[in-house]
Amino acid sequence: MKPIQIGLLGFGTVGSGVAKVLARNAEEIGRRAGRAIEVKRVGVRNIAKARAAAPAAVVEGIAFGDNMHALVDDPDIDIICELIGGTTLALDLVLRAIENGKHVVTANKALLATHGNEIFAAAQRRGVMVTFEAAVAGGIPIIKALREGLTANRIEWIAGIINGTSNFILTEMREKGAAFGDVLAQAQKLGYAEADPTFDIGGHDAAHKLTILAALAFGIPMQFDKAYLEGIATLTQEDIAYAEQLGYRIKLLGITKRKPNGIELRVHPTLVPAKRIIANVEGVMNAVVVQGDVVGQTLYSGRGAGSEPTASAVVADLVDVTRLLTADPEHRVPHLAFQPDRLSDLPILPIEEVETSYYLRLRAHDRPGVMADITRILADLSISIDAMMQKEPDEGEQIVDIIILTHVAKERSVDTAIQLIEGMPTIAGNVTKLRLENLDK
Ligand code: HSE
Repeated sequence: MKPIQIGLLGFGTVGSGVAKVLARNAEEIGRRAGRAIEVKRVGVRNIAKARAAAPAAVVEGIAFGDNMHALVDDPDIDIICELIGGTTLALDLVLRAIENGKHVVTANKALLATHGNEIFAAAQRRGVMVTFEAAVAGGIPIIKALREGLTANRIEWIAGIINGTSNFILTEMREKGAAFGDVLAQAQKLGYAEADPTFDIGGHDAAHKLTILAALAFGIPMQFDKAYLEGIATLTQEDIAYAEQLGYRIKLLGITKRKPNGIELRVHPTLVPAKRIIANVEGVMNAVVVQGDVVGQTLYSGRGAGSEPTASAVVADLVDVTRLLTADPEHRVPHLAFQPDRLSDLPILPIEEVETSYYLRLRAHDRPGVMADITRILADLSISIDAMMQKEPDEGEQIVDIIILTHVAKERSVDTAIQLIEGMPTIAGNVTKLRLENLDK
């Protein structure tokens, strides 16, 4: 059978990885796909730099060019693989490829989270596939699991470590007491970080991925603009250490939950019990926990970034598309797991409506009655305390750190309590608030 011809847009960390994997495992991949998969053309800005990114044996026979629009118009190309990132040129090229009747494989989470609704509608009209396994959690087949493996379930919630760079930073800070900036520089050198690393540490990258997971889990449109995000830049060594003393680890989690009145969609540093497997997923590794009503909890973990782990997911999509090319578009697995005319309009809940547990750290003057005042404020707002710890003041100091863990409460009530506590004359500075998830059911 005639080989499938691929046009690669971008030949950086991921693109060159895809070409290498397709060359290295050509025989095995051909046996799985039913026909050979070949990279015919590569579209890049800098041809010389791209050619040097892979060994001669890999790039031999591939036509490199800098006209990406010509590439997506090439009638001999069956599948366009978009690996340039960004949301401007990438959107233009993806929509043009779809209009040209080509199938698209992309690793571009930002593009899907912000323009996915438009892209999938166009693909639906043209009867082409758009696949995106590499867009979430790199090499972990979480999209496949949600779209196909878990279709019997009503998904209740998903919680994931879906940004390797911030997990790497948090791990190094906890294990080695390393400084934030040094670890970030290391992650950039290793090729894990986004082109703009504020996307990693600010939670944007995780929120892009979480938006995609929520769409697949709940059958809702992409709504990145309604996601709540909070990054790791303000986390202190003290909070990491206190959390550990209380039996927790702090992870940047993407959390999406189905609630009676809507969907929670949030990314923030989160305390997780240290005994949970996900709390022990360290370094650049990613992990996603899915709670389904039929299967219970399942956990997926692996490399979430880097050249070959991401290429593993891209190539899996190429094989999937190759296998399904001849299937009737109406009977393929729907792009977003649910039939496009059966999406739900469940609202995304604002953060004030979210219900979870909390870690609060306050600095108080060590005087009689302070603790009583604090607990009264919490009790009046129906916030129940799960644990409390008061540290010894440092030598000669009058101010002590008090750490409180709460049971599940509404964010709005906790914010009101914090305002009242911060107004107490015996409290110094601001209260630190972190969210806590037990992830037990
Ligand atoms: N910057 C991302 C991360 C790369 O650190 O996880 C994979 O999307």
